[in-house]
Amino acid sequence: MNYVGISAGFHDAAVSVIDQRGDILFAGHSERYSKQKHDQNLCADLMIDALSHVKFPEIEYHYYERPWLKAMRQFYSGEGFRWPTWNRLLGPTYDFLGKPTIHTHGHHLCHAAAGFQTSSFEEATVIIIDAIGEFDTVSIWDAQYDNRGRAQYKKLWSQQYPHSIGLLYSAMTARVGLKPLDEEYILMGMAAYGEPKYLREMQQALLNPHEKLKFAQNLHVGVGDDFLPNADPMDIACSVQLMAEQLIRNVLGRARGKGRSRNLVYGGGVALNCVANRMLGDYYERIWIMPNPGDAGNSLGAACLGYGRKVAWGNSFLGHDIPGDYPVNTVLDHLLTDKIVGVASGRAEFGPRALGNRSLLADPRGYSIKNRVNEIKRRQKFRPFAPVILEEYAADYFEMPYGFENSRYMQTIAACHKPESFPAIVHVDGTSRVQTVPKDGSGIRELLEKWYFMTNCPMLLNTSLNIRGEPMVNDRADADRFERLYGVKVCS
Ligand SMILES: [Fe+2]
Repeated sequence: MNYVGISAGFHDAAVSVIDQRGDILFAGHSERYSKQKHDQNLCADLMIDALSHVKFPEIEYHYYERPWLKAMRQFYSGEGFRWPTWNRLLGPTYDFLGKPTIHTHGHHLCHAAAGFQTSSFEEATVIIIDAIGEFDTVSIWDAQYDNRGRAQYKKLWSQQYPHSIGLLYSAMTARVGLKPLDEEYILMGMAAYGEPKYLREMQQALLNPHEKLKFAQNLHVGVGDDFLPNADPMDIACSVQLMAEQLIRNVLGRARGKGRSRNLVYGGGVALNCVANRMLGDYYERIWIMPNPGDAGNSLGAACLGYGRKVAWGNSFLGHDIPGDYPVNTVLDHLLTDKIVGVASGRAEFGPRALGNRSLLADPRGYSIKNRVNEIKRRQKFRPFAPVILEEYAADYFEMPYGFENSRYMQTIAACHKPESFPAIVHVDGTSRVQTVPKDGSGIRELLEKWYFMTNCPMLLNTSLNIRGEPMVNDRADADRFERLYGVKVCS
């Protein structure tokens, strides 16, 4: 039996495939095939790519939430009622698949399964914080395997719509003129430039004074452009980041009180806030965040629930394959001469971060490199780029937070010990979003080892390889377009 998990119909459609042994055969995003960022619709090319990895004919389909429950919540929240048919949710793909039976699972349960069943833990406390699925917006779970190896989940506590930390962050994203459900990460980056001048005002205006973790208004409809008039957007960003962190601390405290385990599995879209993630180690000894903790990752969660057991997690290179060996020597040559080079090789990353297979890499030393990479990426100049570093040297250059002695999926920030030497990868507050690479035999590992041998520098600048306004490069044709547009070599 193969288990195909599907996330589609809202945003960030994705498909994951697990086989009967628990191997993850494929996990990929629709947007990478359709070239529409955050595409909510399943894409035929994605489906064909995913199913090409299936070796046996038996397939079970699993969907990442309960459509009827979600339709009820949408009706309750004033969004109107839309009959949740598979034809509407899956589009033409439903007919293409032969109108199969599709099993459905709770939205937060899928988040929990995506985290717990890919973790190395035998038992864990699971915390899910997102904007909204069906009704739950925050949930705490006790997860373990029974004596037959079946994953068991017990919900210990939950918070329901409209009280949502994710919706708070999205409302403020819209307030500063950014795109909600897309550009929350930019708001997070802006926070370091501001002061928390409006924290108290925000708390007084938005929080329920009588019940912790509840809000005084429905932030699903936003706060309006006249909320905090004349406030500097950087100060708004700083204030909401701090407010969100205080709320997340409240959830962490609750989870410690309710759950038995010292292992934390953390998921939901809010788990992408790598600034807030630095404090997880204050509460838990061991931490696992599946590298795609948002709704696209729920396709893997749905497939995990179908399979029912611990799956064999290796790494997040699970998407479209550009065959061939990792072009270590060619990349190295370009880095030594041009300082900047693209890589599109092997299987694409499942998740929002480029981790070496669809990356734009650069020499991180010196002051000119940030502007050069920014010219290509054409993004806000205040935003820094991330370093990718040999894991054994991470502590020499960065103060890794407790619980994150390694950061293989770029999920936390760490203070840089030598910011003057690496200005391109250090934020204004002196931190970096670090990716550490273990001795795992990967192409990016071999490249970093050779780069270190030749330069005595154990890290590179790493940013996603994408044409402006488009999702990450997926196939060689995308890489060729990137080369033509920007005049930067992309090696395969
Ligand atoms: Fe979610």
